Amino acid sequence: MKKFKPLMLGVAMALLPFIAQAQDEPTALKVALNEKTADIAPTMWGLFFEDINFAADGGLYAEMIKNYSFEFENPMMGWNRVEDQGAKGYVFNQNHEAPGANHKYLRMQRLNKEGNFGLHNQGFRGMAVKEGLKYTLTFIAKVAKGQDLTVTAKLLDKDQVIGEGSVSGFSDQWAEYEIVMTAGQTLDGVNFQFLLEGEGDLDVDMISMFPEDTWKGRKRGLRNDLVQLLADINPGFLRFPGGCIVEGFDLENRYQWKKTIGEMEDREVMKNRWNIEFAHRTTPDYYQSFGIGFFEYFQLSEDIGAEPLPILSCGLACQFNTGEQVPIGALDQYVNDALDLIEFANGPVDSEWGAKRAEMGHPEPFDLKFIGVGNENWGPQYIERAKIFEKAIKAAYPEVTIVSTSGPFPSGREFEYLWGELRKMNAELVDEHYYRPPSWFRENARRYDDYDRSGPKVFAGEYAAHSTTVSEDFKRNNWEAAMSEAAFMTGLERNADIVRLASYAPLFAHVDGWQWNPDLIWFDNLRSYGTTNYHVQKLFSTNPGTAVVPITAEGESLAGEDGLYASATIDETTNELIFKVVNIASEAKKITIALDGKYKGNGKGTWLEMADSDLEAYNSLDDPTAVSPQTKSFEVKKKTIELTLQGQSVNVGRLKLSK
Ligand code: AHR
Repeated sequence: MKKFKPLMLGVAMALLPFIAQAQDEPTALKVALNEKTADIAPTMWGLFFEDINFAADGGLYAEMIKNYSFEFENPMMGWNRVEDQGAKGYVFNQNHEAPGANHKYLRMQRLNKEGNFGLHNQGFRGMAVKEGLKYTLTFIAKVAKGQDLTVTAKLLDKDQVIGEGSVSGFSDQWAEYEIVMTAGQTLDGVNFQFLLEGEGDLDVDMISMFPEDTWKGRKRGLRNDLVQLLADINPGFLRFPGGCIVEGFDLENRYQWKKTIGEMEDREVMKNRWNIEFAHRTTPDYYQSFGIGFFEYFQLSEDIGAEPLPILSCGLACQFNTGEQVPIGALDQYVNDALDLIEFANGPVDSEWGAKRAEMGHPEPFDLKFIGVGNENWGPQYIERAKIFEKAIKAAYPEVTIVSTSGPFPSGREFEYLWGELRKMNAELVDEHYYRPPSWFRENARRYDDYDRSGPKVFAGEYAAHSTTVSEDFKRNNWEAAMSEAAFMTGLERNADIVRLASYAPLFAHVDGWQWNPDLIWFDNLRSYGTTNYHVQKLFSTNPGTAVVPITAEGESLAGEDGLYASATIDETTNELIFKVVNIASEAKKITIALDGKYKGNGKGTWLEMADSDLEAYNSLDDPTAVSPQTKSFEVKKKTIELTLQGQSVNVGRLKLSK
């Protein structure tokens, strides 16, 4: 048998390409089929959603009009005037008399009947349409002056009309109008115009346009291709709405779920905190319409079979920004928001908040099981507030599991302090975040081997390997990063007794509107794709198993020794063995896996293999599956699997076991 040589972690592994050991004989692994060491939570592999990088407005939320209700700080941002062929007119920003959450509207004043007069909307870094698809434009309007006014909407390829529709019959009272257009061609960069015909003044607001192919065909719904990518990953949970967006730049700017439910006119548009966060990627046109609000998050979770996992402000604004603290004496409002949220999700239809859920079309409860208190907060000010939340939530809803934060970093003084305090509090789940170089992920595959089993469980709530080898846009989502995450994830899986949930972050990015990179899924206004990292996540989340079993070499688990990382699980519902082996070395590796336990002897299994000899390889809109799994098969002879793992590969095997 080959002598087993540990690869020098932290030294050799920091070097690229990886140094491989010369191999004459296969590395011999053994799986103990009957020795279950932990159950795997059904929530194990999930999703982290935050409205960053145009993830909601301009992304998942299929609304095509930017600044649809003229509520941005500059009410005309996103809009240009159209005035050609002798047309004359003006537009004026007006304030609603009884504003509620919707403050402004626009008066369009047409002074003659010549030419074209109206508005052009820029969309979210442009606008795209698909041939043959219907687009529904809705808006509210009232006549301020004149009569026989008509609104004509046009989809144009430069000057050529590829879709058009009109509506007239406006009165002096606000009412909603609709125009349906069919696009005559597929076009990214369509010129959308909203034109006023006749002579007079028309007041307009909430000019909104959606494609008909939304997820489940829902009115004002979500982008189908993006939801499908989420559903395909078989997520155990959906964390929302973030991220730092929960905390806000200051408390005023925090995420307040109650302002995100009900009719759109009741959802107050707000500046997105990522609008100004990064000097190198300022995004002045980034706002939150809350078209995806808390009802939609719950609904999405249900649609894709994920446990909803909302995170709420604990009364501390982002400590990287203002760090504003609500006084303890005024924390009630925040705590009540948490209690009311649980009622909104789970309460009976005759409860105050359960009734609101029912009104929105979901009388059945959403069965909320988790709630997060704070995101990346730290210090005694967090613990002080967390204790108050815990007392109130547990008194009213003892069955709901609370997620607490260990701050923004995976180690260090603040991290240790928070873990110490959270242990004393008997916290249930602690959220850990790590945005680190790929080498950190490879070197930390044993991170949880020695975690205290008697304390809180872990939610690896935000992680991503941040490659330094390339920095251009989506290219950071390269194979080195994804493979290193896979290596680390075998460690999460081996320790599934303590790590109960895990999610890559962030989830989405618009190729022309991002602030943070890398991200799991990239898109433009027409297309989308899963990164190399997405495919790694999917390999794990679609092959989770229900219980961990040991996979060892010379009696030890594998976490980088000889460039190999491994974990194994049993799926007790399908009676299958699932093993995951990552080979970070640049050379191919032969391994054998002996099946120790009940197995018939010979058989055949399925092998998903993801490999690339180029660590900087990446997927893109033009080549969306450049690095993605290939399906192969393997044979079992005399209870032993023999595999040759490609260099720089992530491998998942599935094998039906004997009855
Ligand atoms: O995922 C992007 C950001 O990273 C999140 O908003 C925050 O929680 C973390 O710092």
